[in-house]
Amino acid sequence: MLQTEESRPTFGSRLGIIFATVGSAIGLGNIWRFPYMLGSNGGAAFLLIYLLCALLLGLPVMMAEFYIGRHSKRNAVGAFKVIAPDKKWSIIGYNGMLAAFFILGFYFVIAGWTLEYVFQALTGSLGDKSAAEFRVEFSNFSSGLFRPILWTLLFIGFTHYIIMTGVKNGIERSSKFLMPLLFVILIALCIRSLTLPGAMTGIDFLFKPDFSKINSSVLLSAMGQAFFSLSVGMGCLITYASYFDVKTHLQRTAFEVTAIDTLVAVLAGIMIFPAVFSFGIEPTAGVELVFITLPNVFSQLPLGALWACFFFLLLAVAALTSTISLHEVVTAYLHEERYITRKRAAVYVSLGVTVLAVLSSLSFGIMKNFTFFGLTFFDLLDYVTTKLMLPFGGMLICIFTGWYIDKNVLKAELTNRGTVPFYLFRLYRFLLKYIAPVAIALIFLNELGFVNFLKSL
Ligand code: TRP
Repeated sequence: MLQTEESRPTFGSRLGIIFATVGSAIGLGNIWRFPYMLGSNGGAAFLLIYLLCALLLGLPVMMAEFYIGRHSKRNAVGAFKVIAPDKKWSIIGYNGMLAAFFILGFYFVIAGWTLEYVFQALTGSLGDKSAAEFRVEFSNFSSGLFRPILWTLLFIGFTHYIIMTGVKNGIERSSKFLMPLLFVILIALCIRSLTLPGAMTGIDFLFKPDFSKINSSVLLSAMGQAFFSLSVGMGCLITYASYFDVKTHLQRTAFEVTAIDTLVAVLAGIMIFPAVFSFGIEPTAGVELVFITLPNVFSQLPLGALWACFFFLLLAVAALTSTISLHEVVTAYLHEERYITRKRAAVYVSLGVTVLAVLSSLSFGIMKNFTFFGLTFFDLLDYVTTKLMLPFGGMLICIFTGWYIDKNVLKAELTNRGTVPFYLFRLYRFLLKYIAPVAIALIFLNELGFVNFLKSL
């Protein structure tokens, strides 16, 4: 049964809204992907561009998604059908649906890895080894056949279960307690990392930009990372905002979510890079960077296994609140637009994603040499979503909200019908109409080699 407007669930409280949205934003993107992207893209220069992208592209798109979602009270495809009679705009929603599928297809693999590390910490097999040994252990595990797949399936099962128990009970309650705890443990690990011998080399790497490192691929990577980390560009936050109530302060929520998400990414950098240099790990190690660095940090701590267990458990929870948000996008769409029960919708999504996730997991092992355009299946899903689909979706969302939507309607929604001020509304609309779409287009064209504005820098 389709819910009527009145019975459509909403998030329970202001704090609940923040936690659920922050829960979507904070995840493996901040703690696993951000450090490894930064490490492979030259360090501090990447951070700088990342921050610019988050502020000038991510935040405006987030606010636009909030507007679209709350105004329409629909899923990511339905929202456009309600707001824009011109059907072609729902392409943004379809692009998002597909992106959600693909993202889950690789995200669940890494999420599964976090469970393996919880398990290893619990059973005492993480232990005190050299950096090289941790690396070998990791590569033996990730290239294995059954073990990583089992953890991934378990993770898909958890996500499925929470999606089934509904928005308020499932999503909101699970975000509320554990996010603050993750924050505390992150700070403690930053302190440990900063007091390691040679920590300053890592801090320099993270904060002292070398501008000669900036090239087209760094720009595209930083932009993609900003969209990915903030959960924008594919309608995830349209779906969440459709559960916001009329009093939710959209501007403030967007600011808070962007600020917290960025802070967590920077903290993750402070936790990882001093340790990377202190233990002589290559910052360019790639997907495994966090998984080979952190065990070294834990082995230097009293009660290291306990810390490790806590940390990876919290990371798993952070990943879970993100996978829930991605799963919800597709489930809500199937349920509301295709008129099938929520239960059945969720089953379809979980099964479809399982196929992709198994292939992704195998691409670290037996399917390693099975590449498309030089990318493994895992890397392909990551590339297509973060570097193409999210920025493309973000660009269309800016164009839609900036050009197609009447500015009074937009302003009314973002100011809760004039009850809260929006001092920079004109600047905001200018960003949406001109700056953001042009910047995204230029970064695309630059990467494709059609324009090369970096040469002239
Ligand atoms: N932002 C999440 C993370 O950092 C991942 C995520 C959740 C996401 N929902 C999304 C990414 C929607 C892109 C779009 O881990």
